[in-house]
Amino acid sequence: MTVQNTNTTTTDHWSPSLYQTNANFVPLMVDSIVSLLTPQPNETIFDLGCGDGILTRKLATDYGVAQVVGTDASPAMIAGAKEEAKKFNVPEDKLELAVWDGQELENSPWAGKGFDAVFSNAAIHWMKRDPEAVIRGAHAILKPGGRFVGEFGGHLNVLSVHSALIAALRRRRHDGIALSPWFFPTDNQYQQMLESNGFTVKFIALVPRQTPLPTDIGGWVDTFGGPFMAPLRAEERKTVREEVVEQLRPVLCDFEGKWTADYVRLRFVAIKN
Ligand SMILES: C[S@@+](CC[C@H](N)C(=O)[O-])C[C@H]1O[C@@H](n2cnc3c(N)ncnc32)[C@H](O)[C@@H]1O
Repeated sequence: MTVQNTNTTTTDHWSPSLYQTNANFVPLMVDSIVSLLTPQPNETIFDLGCGDGILTRKLATDYGVAQVVGTDASPAMIAGAKEEAKKFNVPEDKLELAVWDGQELENSPWAGKGFDAVFSNAAIHWMKRDPEAVIRGAHAILKPGGRFVGEFGGHLNVLSVHSALIAALRRRRHDGIALSPWFFPTDNQYQQMLESNGFTVKFIALVPRQTPLPTDIGGWVDTFGGPFMAPLRAEERKTVREEVVEQLRPVLCDFEGKWTADYVRLRFVAIKN
């Protein structure tokens, strides 16, 4: 099935090649979340915000999951995911990939299909406009008793770079908080949201996770900081990037010149009532 929801009209800040160069750790640091998902061969699994689809493809090939659907709001990332599936000869009836906003899943072709699990890695914090609609969407996709398993940025995630970006924008009279694309809830807040939308929470925790970066924090800003730069001219973007790198060098860069980001993940397993 080829589907694309027309509500996705925002600028696509995502690039599969930048993602693989500057953020290859995202789909690699997944052991903890895959062990919470415990994918089984006879299952149907929906990957919400699947990105360039490396993990989605692995669910189909390495874990032998019967049917996998991966959706993402970024056309560029879904194109990358399709390339990945092609490289590994995964047939479309086993791995379906589509552009779709995670906040619009309640009225999607997958609602009512009774999936065994909805899975999401490193994506839900990007769905700031309507995080409860994301939960309602997962609920609509799952069978009763199906599980919603995820990991995303929680309270105080990437605190230093988030603060540095907001401050750099404020110095230029822009509202960095409004421009921030991220929703970083506490565990209590997200548990309440899950429970008031038809889920029983089996496990939820905020987990600090120091994350070594393959580049300096500038590469991270290039990959993930696009929405902050939206109101700036090209020259200003360059200066903001440089300011953020220099401000964070003393706190995130070690004596060997290696950079580490201060991630905090929110991990959860919730069962549809
Ligand atoms: C850090 S990447 C994670 C991708 C993938 N899950 C992984 O583990 O590599 C975040 C992804 O969330 C997607 N995303 C952001 N906002 C979204 C939305 N509203 N609906 C669906 N996907 C969204 C982005 O396009 C991006 O591919």
